[in-house]
Amino acid sequence: MAVASFLPSIFSPSTNLLLLRGSRSFSPTSIAHFHSRRRRRRLCKVRATILRENEKVAVEETFQPKTSPDDHNNNNNEPPPPGSVEKWVIKLEQSINIFLTDSVIKVLDTLYHDRDYPRFFVLETIARVPYFAFISVLHMYESFGWWRKSEYLKVHFAESWNEMHHLLIMEELGGNAWWFDRFLAQHIAIFYYFMTVFMYALSPRMAYHLSECVESHAFETYDKFIKEKGDELKKLAPSKVAVKYYTEEDLYLFDEFQTARLPNTRRPIIQNMYDVFMNIRDDEAEHCKTMKACQTHGNLRSPHASEDDDLGCTLPDAGCEGIVDCIKKSITNPPN
Ligand SMILES: [Fe+2]
Ligand SMILES: [Fe+2]
Repeated sequence: MAVASFLPSIFSPSTNLLLLRGSRSFSPTSIAHFHSRRRRRRLCKVRATILRENEKVAVEETFQPKTSPDDHNNNNNEPPPPGSVEKWVIKLEQSINIFLTDSVIKVLDTLYHDRDYPRFFVLETIARVPYFAFISVLHMYESFGWWRKSEYLKVHFAESWNEMHHLLIMEELGGNAWWFDRFLAQHIAIFYYFMTVFMYALSPRMAYHLSECVESHAFETYDKFIKEKGDELKKLAPSKVAVKYYTEEDLYLFDEFQTARLPNTRRPIIQNMYDVFMNIRDDEAEHCKTMKACQTHGNLRSPHASEDDDLGCTLPDAGCEGIVDCIKKSITNPPN
């Protein structure tokens, strides 16, 4: 059965096109230089989108939450297409993920159909868990001397930092006021953490796909909320946490989690709650793109990669797709 037939309401055509706001002045020469350096250093498979000043650009043509084994482009820089057994495994993994996501969405729909901020609080508590789980497993690989990928650690931390600020905004809005919502969110988070660690160790591709499903649902949820409550939100003063995070802090980590963009190309303007929710929604779209890119092993690149240069990595960059692969390679080809 085709994966598409399993796809729930979390995937809708509206997710394929949206407008992301905000830009900042930067020199075209510096962008060209940036690209040139980046190309010289390594191949970058995650493409950046260049925005011009004060321009609203449809960047979401690349944002396709649906993933399937057929999505792979077979150009020279891409890995070979999966064989029939691997395709079957990918479909099975994705079907399980979609079933899991659908089940949780049904529970949330039942409990939170008329309570938006508590629902967002629960979602955001859950949303940052997988990034912590990815980092935990990557640290373990590094501690055992199996594999080191500093860029993965950095990007996943930046993603979790972004989700933490979404959570702080929801807390500021009173989403965590009732003990039951906190109890539910925290217990789901604990279960989700251990499940993701286990899944990520066995199949990073499957764990990244599950995260993509969750991020896609988050995007849909905020998008629907903005469409329904947009006029009210425009009259409300912005969240203080949001103003600080999006406009006043050092934005290195804000740029770092957006792996499909160049640094400094998205600078939100926060004047009311509508702007806040628009930017949270757009963050979810960026997470979705990053999670999709991660499903191809070794595909993730930090947006600051060429600026930071090598971080003194002494362990080999050899691919290690899950704990079984790591153990196998450490026996057959131990690191120096
Ligand atoms: Fe979020
Ligand atoms: Fe998210």
